Order: sequence, then C-alpha cells, then structure tokens
Amino acid sequence: MIGVYDSGVGGLSVWKELRALMPGEDFTYFSDSAFCPYGPKDPSFIIERADEIARTLIARGAEIIVVACNTATAAAISHLRASFDIPFIGMEPAIKPAALHSESGVVGVLATAGTLKGRLYLNTLARVAADVTVIEQVGTGLVEAVESGDFDSPQVVALLHKYIDPMIEAGADHIVLGCTHYPFLSKAIARIAGEGVTIVNPAPAVARHACDVLSRLRPVRLSGSGTTTFLSSGSTAPLHRLASCL
Ligand code: DGL
Repeated sequence: MIGVYDSGVGGLSVWKELRALMPGEDFTYFSDSAFCPYGPKDPSFIIERADEIARTLIARGAEIIVVACNTATAAAISHLRASFDIPFIGMEPAIKPAALHSESGVVGVLATAGTLKGRLYLNTLARVAADVTVIEQVGTGLVEAVESGDFDSPQVVALLHKYIDPMIEAGADHIVLGCTHYPFLSKAIARIAGEGVTIVNPAPAVARHACDVLSRLRPVRLSGSGTTTFLSSGSTAPLHRLASCL
C-alpha cells in the first residue's frame, strides 16, 4: 500500500496524479485536518505530527509514504527518513524547472510561510538566484478556502488578485504552486495571471518519482483498479467530497 498524507485535502492533488499513474495500487490517504493549516505552525509540532502519521500509515502496511504537503516536507522529511526504514517522497520546490523555462527571468512562488522558510526551499532558491528574480508570496487564507470547498468565490478571487497581481506586474511568466492545496485554485489563478503565464504544479513529477521509488522495491501495478482508504484526525467528509470529483 502507498501512504499519502497532508494537513488536509490539498494532498489529493498529488493522490490524483499517483492514482492516474498507478491505478492498480492501493492507497491510504491521511488528512491531518484537526491540525490544519500547518503553514503558520512551529516545525517541531509538524515533526511530531509527521511521526505519528507515519506510524499510523506503516502500521496499516504502507511500503512507501508520499508527504503530499510542501510545509510538512520542509519541516519533517529529514526526521522521517532518519526515523523509519521505508522510503519517503516529499514535495520538491518547483522553482528549478520554472527558472529553467522562464523567458522573462521573473518567477513567482506562492507557498506557505513554513515552506518559504524551509532549508529545502532556501537551498534551491540560492541555486537559481543568479539566473532569475524570484517573487515570493505567502498564500494566507488560501488553504482554509480550499478546505471549505471554496475555489472561486469573490473573496478567494480578491485574495488571489492581491497575491498574483504584483507577480504579473513584475513580469513573471511562471507561477510556482508551492502548496498542494493550490492546484485546486489553478483555474482562478490562470485566469488572473492571464495568457502567457505558466502555472507550475510539481504533482505529476512527484508521482513519477514515487512510481520510480516503488519500482525499486517491487513491480508496480500500472493497471487494474486499486482502492483508496481515507483517514483523518478530524472529519473525512471533505476528503470524500473532493476525492469524488477528481
Ligand atoms: N498542503 C499543504 C502544503 O503543501 C498546506 C499547508 C498548510 O496546511 O498550511 O504546504
């Protein structure tokens, strides 16, 4: 079984790609909704939660775990890798591919505060900084909107304008979605950003990497129809609601 977890429903944007790539595999998705959002929380708390969730998923038979949350990856992936002897796949900050393909030399990054402060992101940023200008923005309020199933209300659109407009005005031609909740807002983001701006969602690349890691353990079930079990530290209702639309 493949374990997947996030602070909430956002990781479903990654689960969707995993399932498309490996439809015969069984998944267990854990949403830590009792403690969502992770973005403003202390890394030590996110590590504690990661530890408990990994134990739960491993006890249920997880062979690999996809940390489908940029904030949890930033805070806890090293701890998880050092503490458990199964592979963990994290979310990569996708500024590298964005920087590589940018023609304007300006790239926008929308992420949580925790992700933008993380070592993983800062290291990648340092590597691309010579080639492009990176405009960072914390997406305050967006995780909460997605959790409540709000992808396009006037309030969300106003928030997105506040975050995206300065990137476009500065000439960004790529916007990196640095939080797994944000792909659910990508239609609104694309509309606001306008033509000629590429929205970068790292989920398909992460799914390919997870498939590759699993294939080193055993043959991957690339066809058939596997199952997904949904677990949550709060209610599973939002998970079932959103997953049924994907
Ligand atoms: N999906 C999580 C991420 O990718 C959301 C973080 C949060 O709960 O604030 O960072």
